[in-house]
Amino acid sequence: MCGIIGYVGKKAAAPVLLEGLRRLEYRGYDSAGVAVLNPSGLVVRKKLGKIDEGIARLLKSRPVTGTLGIAHTRWATHGVPSDTNCHPHLDASGKIAVVHNGVIENYDALKQKLIRAGHKFKSDTDTEVLAHLIGDDYERRRAKNAVNGDDNTLAQAVCDALREVIGTYGLAVICTDFPDTMVGARRGSPLIIGIGKEENFVASDANAIVAHTKKVVYLNDYDVATVTSERFDVQNLGTETANVQISKLEFSQEDAARGQHAHFMLKEIYEQPQTIRNALRGRLDFEGATAKFGGLNMTAAELRGIDRIVIAASGTSWHAALVGEYLIEDLAQLPVEVEFAHEFCYRNCPLEKNTVLLVLSQSGETADTLAALREAKRRGHRALAIVNVVGSTIARESDGGIYMHAGPEIGVASTKAFVSTISILTLLAVHLGRLRHLSAKRALDVLRGLEELPKQVEKILAQNDALKKVAKKYTKAEDFFFLGRGYTFPIALEGALKLKEISYIHAEGYSAAEMKHGPIALIDKSTPTVFLVPQDAMYDKTMANLAMIRARQGPIIALATEGDKAIRKVADDVIYLAPTLDLLNPILASVPLQLFAYHIAVARGCDVDKPRNLAKSVTVE
Ligand code: G6P
Repeated sequence: MCGIIGYVGKKAAAPVLLEGLRRLEYRGYDSAGVAVLNPSGLVVRKKLGKIDEGIARLLKSRPVTGTLGIAHTRWATHGVPSDTNCHPHLDASGKIAVVHNGVIENYDALKQKLIRAGHKFKSDTDTEVLAHLIGDDYERRRAKNAVNGDDNTLAQAVCDALREVIGTYGLAVICTDFPDTMVGARRGSPLIIGIGKEENFVASDANAIVAHTKKVVYLNDYDVATVTSERFDVQNLGTETANVQISKLEFSQEDAARGQHAHFMLKEIYEQPQTIRNALRGRLDFEGATAKFGGLNMTAAELRGIDRIVIAASGTSWHAALVGEYLIEDLAQLPVEVEFAHEFCYRNCPLEKNTVLLVLSQSGETADTLAALREAKRRGHRALAIVNVVGSTIARESDGGIYMHAGPEIGVASTKAFVSTISILTLLAVHLGRLRHLSAKRALDVLRGLEELPKQVEKILAQNDALKKVAKKYTKAEDFFFLGRGYTFPIALEGALKLKEISYIHAEGYSAAEMKHGPIALIDKSTPTVFLVPQDAMYDKTMANLAMIRARQGPIIALATEGDKAIRKVADDVIYLAPTLDLLNPILASVPLQLFAYHIAVARGCDVDKPRNLAKSVTVE
């Protein structure tokens, strides 16, 4: 959520910043701004709206020159989206500019203190308070040291200010007295340094800088970095000595580009056959009838000793967690509990001695999920993670884990990461099952079924035009139900979430069986239901539930198994899935629901890649 990029080097900063903002726009898009330093001082341009309609137009009509600059794309936390609340924010002297992700929790107390000292504020943001605080500390240090031009003074002032701050931040700061220096800092919100040749970068997200360099340093919490065009230096507010490691980005600019697809979401839906292959690669062990992982960091004996798994996640990843519960309990007969990450953190639930926490996160940066991981570790429990973004905070702080290798997911509504997470959870369930009572025969059936999935997903993608037609019929509906039972119940929840997120249609995911205990009251001619009714163990019972909706004249769109003719008689529209194991239906059923939501949203004129009010990864609690 919110994106930061900073540049220092020999090139014109503004185009680099603007390009970076475009690549970060999925992190927040209510407004964006830049601050560039040139001989006339700090030039700030900021504008409400998406990048192309806002800041890009402004920079075209009023260009800025200079080789040092910082920029920000915003997802509002304090203060409404507006030109004034947009970052960068300046200190009282107008010499220091700050961009910031995160939330300063004690901003009001700090603001009142600064107001008493004569400060005046233009915006409602916590970030402007931070800028003034840094400015105050800077002037104090400068008066004391009388060291103008020593790049340490700015970094020290940032450190002074951050010692007063309660909350989270990823931030970048520049100052007119230091024409070749940026200061970056992080606590809770990610920040990386990109190392170039005679140029360096700071960014909240590697996507912003991968076109320029693949050499990065992931800052740790409490790190404060001083970055010039030639070098960088990191100190740590807590430990004084910073742990600096240079890493290599493993994806390219092309991976993060939209290509010929109309939207990133569509591109990512179409990537899913490959995403599944990537999730399975090197992990299928047919000889041992099991799955293998490199990074769990647990011995077979330790894995056997687990008495319960708590899976914590947020949003779409939470729906993947529900599928994980069904899979692990079914294949490994190991009790699993699924928690919203934020609930897990604060409700003090009992954890037995050998309970392991498993967190799921595409971004590896979701604040609620990170907090859950830290809470489990604080209580002495092992915390594992399934994560997509390599080097993300959750990936680095977990005791062991599994990477998705799904490539960058830019569309705000998660698609390929969801399918990837479920694929990996299936492998994990087989692995845990084989350390217990799962038969080789059943394990091999699952492995073979997994191997078939990419081709089966391709078959669903080939039905895109038919799906588009079905979607068009229902574009005007204002309420939807998504119903499933057993393994497809969590997918009904996810199907409804996808539709809500990108089309703004009210949609409810429900258990097809539970529906009769209340929500069925809402069914009428104008309320369509998407029924997940593959030929699995629940087929007959789900068909009976479907008949109840039919009897109340609710339109029905069914997801059924190829060859099911009976469904044609009771559903208005049918989308067919290839036959597979019950436990693999969640993966297959996800794909048409993503396309269905996509086409409805496009037909309604919605911006599917940047849905209103959402951000790709929410780094505040
Ligand atoms: C945000 C996004 C959701 C996403 C959730 C969890 O709310 O808008 O699409 O599912 O975060 O993200 P994660 O990166 O932890 O999977």
